[in-house]
Amino acid sequence: MSDSLWLRVAERLDEHSYMSGAERTVDRVKATGEVFTPTALVVEMLQYVDLDVFAPGQTVLDPACGDGQFLVAAKWVKVLHHGMEEPDALADLFGVDIMRDNVDLCRRRLGGGTILMGDTLHPDRHLDGQTPYEWTVMQSLFDEAASTTRKRRPREGEVA
Ligand SMILES: C[S@@+](CC[C@H](N)C(=O)[O-])C[C@H]1O[C@@H](n2cnc3c(N)ncnc32)[C@H](O)[C@@H]1O
Repeated sequence: MSDSLWLRVAERLDEHSYMSGAERTVDRVKATGEVFTPTALVVEMLQYVDLDVFAPGQTVLDPACGDGQFLVAAKWVKVLHHGMEEPDALADLFGVDIMRDNVDLCRRRLGGGTILMGDTLHPDRHLDGQTPYEWTVMQSLFDEAASTTRKRRPREGEVA
């Protein structure tokens, strides 16, 4: 894959600072594991990925999207490598984060996409500050996965 694609993706990632104005206290970082992947590492990791996974219609979900480092890169691979229009690329992108400011920052950096406040580990949990729309979409995004997991999980006393 050409270096120029990755240079252009890196430029797009660095167009907006990935730190919001929010206070990222030590306690908050400890509680949420809130460390964002630096641009150079995002680009390096994506160079090992078959770029067909970003082809038109292929959806991408980051279940702990933070400020959107991976989703922003996915968007620009869709646009710059696969020739997609931005609105079509954004229609393929989904992100979830438990912190409202990260959700807002991620959506702002992307310029759209389905970016939701939610708890990926407990999709049916209602969070303070989560909108009814976000809660509803969380149910549809994770319903199938959750029911599959429930089916697989043995009851207490059962042998797995
Ligand atoms: C290590 S950061 C990764 C962010 C981004 N994927 C990246 O690589 O730059 C983890 C993110 O997960 C979020 N998070 C932590 N627990 C979560 C949960 N249960 N559901 C959704 N997001 C969560 C944090 O707020 C934080 O933004």
